[in-house]
Amino acid sequence: MDVTDYCTLLLLHHVTIFLFLFHSLRGQIQVTGPSRPIVATVGDDTIIPCQLKPAVNASGMRLEWARPDLSPGIVHVRANGQEYAAHQQPSYRGRTSVSISNLQHGDLSLKLSKVKVSDEGMYRCLVPRLGLAVYIQLVVGAVSSPVIRLMNNSSRRVVLQCESSGWYPEPEVLWLDGEGKLLSAGPTETVRGPDDLYTVSSRVTVEKRHSSSFTCRVHQKDTNHTRETHITVPVLSRFVKGVMVPGFFCILLSIYLTAWRKRPGGGKEQETEKKESAVTENQT
Ligand SMILES: *[C@@H]1O[C@H](CO)[C@@H](O)[C@H](O)[C@H]1NC(C)=O
Ligand SMILES: *[C@@H]1O[C@H](CO)[C@@H](O)[C@H](O)[C@H]1NC(C)=O
Ligand SMILES: *[C@@H]1O[C@H](CO)[C@@H](O)[C@H](O)[C@H]1NC(C)=O
Ligand SMILES: *[C@@H]1O[C@H](CO)[C@@H](O)[C@H](O)[C@H]1NC(C)=O
Repeated sequence: MDVTDYCTLLLLHHVTIFLFLFHSLRGQIQVTGPSRPIVATVGDDTIIPCQLKPAVNASGMRLEWARPDLSPGIVHVRANGQEYAAHQQPSYRGRTSVSISNLQHGDLSLKLSKVKVSDEGMYRCLVPRLGLAVYIQLVVGAVSSPVIRLMNNSSRRVVLQCESSGWYPEPEVLWLDGEGKLLSAGPTETVRGPDDLYTVSSRVTVEKRHSSSFTCRVHQKDTNHTRETHITVPVLSRFVKGVMVPGFFCILLSIYLTAWRKRPGGGKEQETEKKESAVTENQT
């Protein structure tokens, strides 16, 4: 075996070791992310998880977070221990970060602040040195509580209007009675604002005697967000109107007459009592 053969053998040996290490590194380390979509709320901060398994120190590795559907699609890039803002998608400027202390423990998660509707999409977490990437879906939602208003107030029927603005994606509106039974309502009106958020409104006509408590429920299936508001419609049944109110005044009148008869100077007191009964009448 001459020197050239020895060198070739040595080179082969080194290449083999290198390839072995490279492959074992590739084979052993995995980039993992959640299998379910991450749900974030507009205006909040969110974390898009991505981890190396086993948890090796990734602070020296190049890391690329991207949205392949956008151009430019770079969301966040770290290399040589620092962030690179060049070629970053402008809508993410100043809103992304990766924790350096977490990187040392294999946690590549991206923190996204002040989430916007346009942040919704598929994110790629890539470590080029390992040739590994994982895709994570971000679903963005926005919620707000509905407001119920009483309309066309008559003695028998009441029209309730429920309105809720600031939703994303488009939600559905449901009306429930006091026992939790679904009420049939008119079609839901939907308006989409310039901020991409939806405003929904729905009306329902209810009989006062049936039930006095109603619920407007706004629900979004994708984000599983629910907001609801209750209203209690004052029941003025025939019993209240026809028996209780006159009965109350009869009792009041008899008390008053009894008191008046017993006093000699009743003339003055009569006026004050009349005022009092007028106040009571207004309150009912
Ligand atoms: C991770 O690696 C960097 C250099 O690449 C080093 O400064 C740091 O101390 C390491 N951290 C741990 C926890 O090993
Ligand atoms: C409510 O009242 C308005 C007028 O004030 C009328 O146009 C509308 O049809 C009424 N709605 C119902 C359900 O009665
Ligand atoms: C609705 O009408 C009833 C009487 O029919 C009254 O007592 C009640 O205050 C009214 N409510 C509103 C919000 O106008
Ligand atoms: C939706 O949220 C409710 C609680 O608000 C929970 O009980 C239900 O399991 C959730 N559904 C899904 C599909 O996550």
